[in-house]
Amino acid sequence: MENKTVPQHVAIIMDGNGRWAKQRGLERVEGHRAGAVAVRNMVAILKKSDVKYLTLYAFSTENWKRSKEEVDALMELLAEFIDANLDLLQENNVRLLVTGRIEGLPEKARNKLKDAIRKTADNQDGTVIFALNYGGRAELADAAKKIAQKVLAGELDPEEINENTVAQNLYLPEIPDPDLLIRTSGELRLSNFLLWELSYSEIYVTNTFWPDFGEEEFYKAIEEYQKRNRRFGGR
Ligand code: FPP
Repeated sequence: MENKTVPQHVAIIMDGNGRWAKQRGLERVEGHRAGAVAVRNMVAILKKSDVKYLTLYAFSTENWKRSKEEVDALMELLAEFIDANLDLLQENNVRLLVTGRIEGLPEKARNKLKDAIRKTADNQDGTVIFALNYGGRAELADAAKKIAQKVLAGELDPEEINENTVAQNLYLPEIPDPDLLIRTSGELRLSNFLLWELSYSEIYVTNTFWPDFGEEEFYKAIEEYQKRNRRFGGR
């Protein structure tokens, strides 16, 4: 049976900025700069589509291992992105959210993010979620910590802990799980992305590098998704 519904939530592992730059004889940071333009383009694409939530893996808990130069450039790009695109989010009535350990980000980027999250909070034509300083294992460890604190405070009986308890203690419990995961630039890995939330997501991998990813490829992924038969473990 074909599934003609549009995915409500699409998550993307934006990979290949470095390779895109290398192909052109450019510095890695130029790949990230081009990647930020592709992120910007996604705001209007999201607004036009019936997709409601778009989660973009922008910086993982493992990305701190990259050179200081590259990490600093990514954080600077992030701050610049907010400055340059807050108006675009507002014009498109798109809300911004962040998932991850936001407190671990540099102050400048953190403050700009918090400001943009506050200013776009009532926008209702779509939600863009940046995964920043995000790790799937870190998110589950943080959920375990929150649950343990509730037990210690006498608010929760350990016997009552179930899957729903875990889901309710993730970073963004109100956001539905992704229906579709897209990974660019050909790698077949989850890379510690949304480990809990992606349990039943359909996966689409394209060889296109992230800076070259746009509307056409986004709709190709959605068409592919619509051919899948989601059974959630049933028959
Ligand atoms: C992966 O490419 C990409 C990243 C680690 C960062 C993603 C960042 C952006 C798309 C730009 C800035 C983001 C925002 C939200 C403004 P890679 O460097 O791992 O590429 P490679 O595998 O080809 O080296």
